[in-house]
Amino acid sequence: MLLLKPGLRLYKTALDRAAQEALLGELRAILCDAPLFRPKMPRTGKEFSVRMSNCGPLGWVSDLSGYRYQPHHPETGQPWPPMPESVLRLWRDFAESPVEPDACLINYYDETARMGPHQDRDETDFSAPILSLSLGLSCRFRFGGESRRDPSATIRLDSGDVLVFGGPARKMFHGVDRILPGTSTLLTPTGRINLTLRRAE
Ligand code: SIN
Ligand code: FE2
Repeated sequence: MLLLKPGLRLYKTALDRAAQEALLGELRAILCDAPLFRPKMPRTGKEFSVRMSNCGPLGWVSDLSGYRYQPHHPETGQPWPPMPESVLRLWRDFAESPVEPDACLINYYDETARMGPHQDRDETDFSAPILSLSLGLSCRFRFGGESRRDPSATIRLDSGDVLVFGGPARKMFHGVDRILPGTSTLLTPTGRINLTLRRAE
């Protein structure tokens, strides 16, 4: 475990290749039921470059009217598929939180996608940490402080890495500067999947 700053822990290769492939099989089934959609920015309606889906009781969505958690897929209207046991196990193994997650966001990045710096602050309770798992292509992940103007740094996240941010790092600004092509053979077609586990309510 690498403590990057208070509250921010990095577990390199928390999942080995076999565990990554097993989880990917479960995610493919989830994405058949709850297809990736392309969220839009509130107000401007500009599309994200990242495509998203969710599993678990609640899913994070973004559209013209704002950011929120909701129990159903915005396009199919169906409830989100349940969170697989393997995903819950990740939380139990690494989150160091007595609270269980009720939301798992699935982000899919192609080689050109990115995610601008933001805070995760649509949850009702900030006592639980955020747990993020990377699968597939590596990325340059940027993190800073609680103010957008605070200094920031970047780290490389590789397939199988788990990042946990809680406590003093729970509301840090973070984003994905860029995807690093050619760094993984896990996904076909190539790309990066990020799972973000949260306690939303
Ligand atoms: C996010 O903050 O929603 C995603 C971060 C990541 O893709 O690593
Ligand atoms: Fe985030």
